[in-house]
Order: sequence, then structure tokens, then C-alpha cells
Amino acid sequence: MATLSDRTFTQIAELMHGSIGLSFAPSKKPLISSRLAPRIQRLGLGSFEEYLQLISTPDDGGEFQMAVDLLTTNETYFFREPAHFELIEAELARERPRRVAVWSAASSFGDEAYSTAMLLADLHQRGQIGSDWSILGTDISDRVLHSASSAIYPAERLRQVPPERLKRHCLKGEGESEGLVQIGPKLRERVKFGQLNLCAAIEGGLPGAPFDIVFLRNVLIYFDPPTKRAVVDRVLTQLRPGGLFFIGTAEGRVPCDTPLQVLAPGAFRKVAG
Ligand SMILES: C[S@@+](CC[C@H](N)C(=O)[O-])C[C@H]1O[C@@H](n2cnc3c(N)ncnc32)[C@H](O)[C@@H]1O
Repeated sequence: MATLSDRTFTQIAELMHGSIGLSFAPSKKPLISSRLAPRIQRLGLGSFEEYLQLISTPDDGGEFQMAVDLLTTNETYFFREPAHFELIEAELARERPRRVAVWSAASSFGDEAYSTAMLLADLHQRGQIGSDWSILGTDISDRVLHSASSAIYPAERLRQVPPERLKRHCLKGEGESEGLVQIGPKLRERVKFGQLNLCAAIEGGLPGAPFDIVFLRNVLIYFDPPTKRAVVDRVLTQLRPGGLFFIGTAEGRVPCDTPLQVLAPGAFRKVAG
């Protein structure tokens, strides 16, 4: 079994921080060791040093990405933190906008993006928003984005979706696909996914920007305080003044210089500057 030296731990932590902002304090050494050791063994490598060398080269066959996936959690599910979706519904029903553009930054497998799509489709059907609505989902991980585009989920992940809504928007798997659910084509065509590193400058305009609603939920946990602040302020440049901004309810105060009005736990409005 490979052992992780302090020096190699520091180098791995610096690589993760320098490239995608992930922050690993020295107390996280056992976590890095236990998450990467089985992978090193599976690849037939002899040491953490060899693995570090592999993930440091551009020609790594996607292994850096794999390491990121092993060191972060992609956990997500449909209508996570339902109060946020209730707030969006109330706000849109009141404003009745013609256009709604949403960005799910750190979308993981797409549950947040498709949950929002179900809500917007229903609001449109009830005549409460116009027909011009779209959703962009982005994440650092190729693997989750690939899965998000296929829009196939274990039914368990949609446990918070009421049966009527499920029936309206999803296809139920049969035979070999029993227990799986696919998001229907009408919603899929409204939701686009792309890779974006939240710790890098946003090049060009994101499709749909400026957004009316931005989710940045359950990802700030991975960043150190200066990185968190930079990420939040960068993301907020893509939200229109007056737009809604969400972080995870357990993530505490939102660290940023952009003026925000607090609406509810994890929910904010960008103050018109
Ligand atoms: C726990 S999931 C959050 C999913 C969803 N937003 C939610 O709240 O259910 C965290 C996601 O952040 C992504 N992530 C981590 N670092 C990132 C970065 N620097 N840029 C973009 N995404 C990142 C991970 O790949 C992972 O899919």
C-alpha cells in the first residue's frame, strides 16, 4: 500500500489549489490518501509520487479530472433545498417575466438544472412566464457533464418530485431500464451543459447571460476564504441587477464585495448598482 508523504501531500494540494481552487488543509491528508490510494493501486502505479507526476502532465488521459472527482463530492438530487424553488416560483409568479435565463454553476449531474426546468415549464404552462426560458449548467467535471447531458437518473434521485410533475416531464424506464428515469425531450432541449472552472476568468459571454437566476450551491465548501470571495464576485458579474442568487443553506454567510439583499437562508437578490 502506497504511503503519502507530507511533501507529496503538499504538492498535490498545491496542484489542486493552483488549477481549480480546491483547498486542502494539512488535516485533510488522510482524506487525500484514502481517496487516491485505491485509484493508484488500480492503475498499477507504485506510489503517490508517480500519481502526482501523472496528474501534473497535460497528457494525463483525463486522470487529473478523475482525481478531482475522487476528492470532491458530486452529491446532488432533484429539488434539493425546496425552499429555494418555492421562492423562485413565488417571485416569478409575481413578476411574470417574458424571459427567464438561469445558470446552475457547479451543476454536477444536472439535478438542479432539470429541477428548475420542470418548474419553469410548469410556470410557462400556467401563463406565469413567457416562452423564452433557458438553463445553462456548468461544472469542472467532464464525467458529471456527460451524464447530465444524457439526463438519465435512478428514480430515487427524483424522490422529491410529485408524481404528477414526474409524469408530465419524465419517461419511466422499462425492462432493463427499470428503476431509471429520463428527462423528457422538451425539457432537455431547454437545458445546455458546458465545462467551466469557477476559479478561472470567464472568457467571453456565457450563453444566456446576464442571468435572472444563478445557483452556486454546495461548491464554495471546497475553496479557501480568498478563493470563495473571488468566485462569488466573478459569478455575480453574470447575474443581472435584481436577479436571484442561491448558495447552499448550510454554507453560512456569502463572502463577496457585490451588494446583496438577504431574502432567506442561502437566498439573495443582487442589489441594483
Ligand atoms: C456537491 S456538487 C453541487 C451540486 C449542486 N449544485 C447541488 O447543490 O446539489 C459540487 C460540484 O462542484 C464541482 N466543482 C468543484 N470545484 C469546481 C470548480 N473549480 N469549478 C466548477 N465546478 C467545481 C464538482 O465537480 C461537483 O460536481
